[in-house]
Amino acid sequence: MRIVRLASETDFDGWREAARALRLTEMSPAEVIWTVDDGAADLFAEAAPPAARGEIKVSPGFMDLARRVVLHRSAARFDLLYRLLWRLASEPRLLAQPADPDVARARDMERQVNRAAHKMKAFVRFREVQAEPREEAFVAWFEPAHRVTEATAPFFVRRFANMAFSILTPDVCAHWDRHALTFTPGADPADAPAEDELEAFWRTYYAATFNPARLRLSAMQKEMPKRYWRNLPEAALIPELTRHAQARTETMVAQSPSEPQRRIVRAARRASRDAAFDGAAPTTLQEVAAGVDACRRCPLWKDATQGVAGEGPSQARLMFVGEQPGDQEDLAGRPFVGPAGQVFDRALADAGVPRAEAYVTNAVKHFKHELRGKRRLHKTPETAEIEACRGWLEAERRLVRPRVIVALGATAVRAVMGKPLTIGGARGQVFQLEDQAQGVVTWHPSFLLRTPDPAAKARAYEQFVADLRFAWSLV
Ligand code: URA
Repeated sequence: MRIVRLASETDFDGWREAARALRLTEMSPAEVIWTVDDGAADLFAEAAPPAARGEIKVSPGFMDLARRVVLHRSAARFDLLYRLLWRLASEPRLLAQPADPDVARARDMERQVNRAAHKMKAFVRFREVQAEPREEAFVAWFEPAHRVTEATAPFFVRRFANMAFSILTPDVCAHWDRHALTFTPGADPADAPAEDELEAFWRTYYAATFNPARLRLSAMQKEMPKRYWRNLPEAALIPELTRHAQARTETMVAQSPSEPQRRIVRAARRASRDAAFDGAAPTTLQEVAAGVDACRRCPLWKDATQGVAGEGPSQARLMFVGEQPGDQEDLAGRPFVGPAGQVFDRALADAGVPRAEAYVTNAVKHFKHELRGKRRLHKTPETAEIEACRGWLEAERRLVRPRVIVALGATAVRAVMGKPLTIGGARGQVFQLEDQAQGVVTWHPSFLLRTPDPAAKARAYEQFVADLRFAWSLV
């Protein structure tokens, strides 16, 4: 029996080294116990790394898989990976058999780790703290489902290169001082901070060693005035956003999601079980956003990063309803920010319609997709999914009370009108809706992107712009 003690819960290099040596000495998986050095008494005094020289060949695909699986919280992960490595010697095509129980388990873990990383990217919310008089840093508390903090920290560094920040988690704390990324031991979840206690908590875990002299505040502020950093500082750093009007940026930042309140999340969960849910419960758009994210009324939430509610002024006279968030909307938590959003923005500008004055939302609030390799490909929602989500759209309509609602494409038409209509036939008409709003129908911007024939594409784009202008004239 061989006991291998790794340096940490995420010690991929240690696992790789030990696994290589074990394979070379032909130590079968049943003879190996994997454990992590937790600094406790030396229970396994006989444990020693096996000594072996030589190389073994494994595919980059397996190494990628192993790198992700190591981040899973399952205690069986090192063992599972070594068993896979062992079997690969006699079954080189093993990874191509998704039904094999070891492969299926590892792929499942990989998916869960990827989802935890996506969630971390989407849900970490920074709060400004005073590092020293007149100096600032940003701090966030987050509890990832798996040990993805070290692997995900470089994403935040890329995004917030100009911002000194700490992300505190129970596993490990990541700190970026605008020069170096460092890690310190995890924070105690037993005293997980309330929003307003974050600063004191951060002081316990890092501020003692924080060096504010290294902050370059003026450079940071040059990027974006500080008042825009309120809830979601990254909004200031999404280059695409900066191309749009100041007014739009302000609206979006002001509307950025904040952490759902427990009461609302509980109400949303109740709504999930209520077959007759009609969206009557939420009293504010913030409640809708929290409820959408907590919604379990159909299975689409399982593979999505987050629920994406609408955004825009709470009294907007014009509402646009799209189909569902796409890949980029799912990550950003905001509607129409990806490729379809760019077409939409261009057409709005050509039609003279200010997006900042409209409320923009979707019929379905979670991203429906299928995985093709690493890509998440859009899938059209089914009627049952549109119906499950209807209550949220009803709530947005009831709270915003727009005068005109524009349905973009077939899914939105079904959700807004309650029945299917052909877009070509319904364009140019005004539909009187039950809530006193007027309904207008037009193409979905993705349809324009997908139309291959340049002449047909140009014609559809012209029609789209004309329809947007028409809707605005009704307002
Ligand atoms: N397509 C939609 O229908 N909505 C979005 O938010 C993005 C793409």
